[in-house]
Amino acid sequence: MVKAIIRTGDGGPEVLQLGEVPAPQPTETQLVVDVHATALNRADMIQRRGGYPPPPGESEILGLEIAGTVSAMGSAVEGVTQGDRVFGLVGGGGYAKQAVIDYRMAMPIPDEWRFEQAAAVPEVFFTANENIFTLGELSAGETILIHAGGSGVGSAGVQISHHAGANVFVTAGTSEKIEKCKALGAVEGINYKTTDFVTEITRLTDGQGVDVVLDFIGAPYLERNLSILKTKGRLLQVGLIGGATTEINLGTVMRNRLKIIGSVMRPQSIAEKIAITQRFVERWLPELKRGTLQPVIDTVFPLAEARQAHEYMEANRNFGKILLKVR
Ligand SMILES: NC(=O)c1ccc[n+]([C@@H]2O[C@H](COP(=O)([O-])OP(=O)(O)OC[C@H]3O[C@@H](n4cnc5c(N)ncnc54)[C@H](OP(=O)(O)O)[C@@H]3O)[C@@H](O)[C@H]2O)c1
Repeated sequence: MVKAIIRTGDGGPEVLQLGEVPAPQPTETQLVVDVHATALNRADMIQRRGGYPPPPGESEILGLEIAGTVSAMGSAVEGVTQGDRVFGLVGGGGYAKQAVIDYRMAMPIPDEWRFEQAAAVPEVFFTANENIFTLGELSAGETILIHAGGSGVGSAGVQISHHAGANVFVTAGTSEKIEKCKALGAVEGINYKTTDFVTEITRLTDGQGVDVVLDFIGAPYLERNLSILKTKGRLLQVGLIGGATTEINLGTVMRNRLKIIGSVMRPQSIAEKIAITQRFVERWLPELKRGTLQPVIDTVFPLAEARQAHEYMEANRNFGKILLKVR
């Protein structure tokens, strides 16, 4: 048995409790990892309430990314040794002392990194890279609006977009978050609680609009997001914090030849997730190792305080990642 955060039911943060679960058994291509750190993601809040189930075969325990040391492995694993420090994306199971990960998705942790640093990287950098570049095809000189710039994904998205030579605008709910986004490379930030982002983007771009929008809010923003896209603009729909259902006039999409692209990482096949990992390793891991990009860590809670960590995230207090120190 291993210690893990278990859910006593579907509901608020109070359903999270430290308990014990059977130790995970690896398939032939999986590593067993003694988890040292994991991180929260907004999706964990939805899973805790009873939505966003893990894909078939994945752990029911929360936690989509891990950093730790390899303690055992399946018979088909190649190139990994017991004791290796690894980090990566998992389909579930991160909030536990042990978890399993396919060896082709496990990346070696750079020597100088702490486990917390490594655990803060996979979900947000993979999501940002896949959406902004692989699907959104943002290029140097283009302009992007990243909503919720202070979110984990936003803090990664701002950095990689800026690094690629794009002009980055963000929205956020406080002036402190906007200042922090600017320190990461955003040109300008809009407090969506006090200012209409359509009016402000129109002003900031001299009426031109933006090439790409990365959106997590969904229904209440859809029509407004489309209205600020340039001809051939791309809207990446990555979250639905504000709701999933709305009605829009599709005329704008046709007239301006817009693309609306949605994606969710978790249900994708292992082959697709290995490819996602690889694209990140090639393009952004070298920059993270050099320190030109950094995972933004807001707070580290002990595993036993997962409940408090969830309360903190749901209060929208974090800028960047919330970590759980597991051992
Ligand atoms: N599709 C995928 O594969 C994928 C993968 C990872 C994450 N995601 C999605 O990406 C989003 C960010 O995830 P995360 O873990 O990085 O989140 P996070 O760190 O919890 O940040 C979310 C932020 O969104 C802002 N927000 C909350 N409610 C809002 C509302 N109604 N209107 C505008 N802003 C609001 C808050 O900041 P303010 O203070 O600025 O309001 C909050 O801190 C989530 O929607 C998540 O589900 C999708």
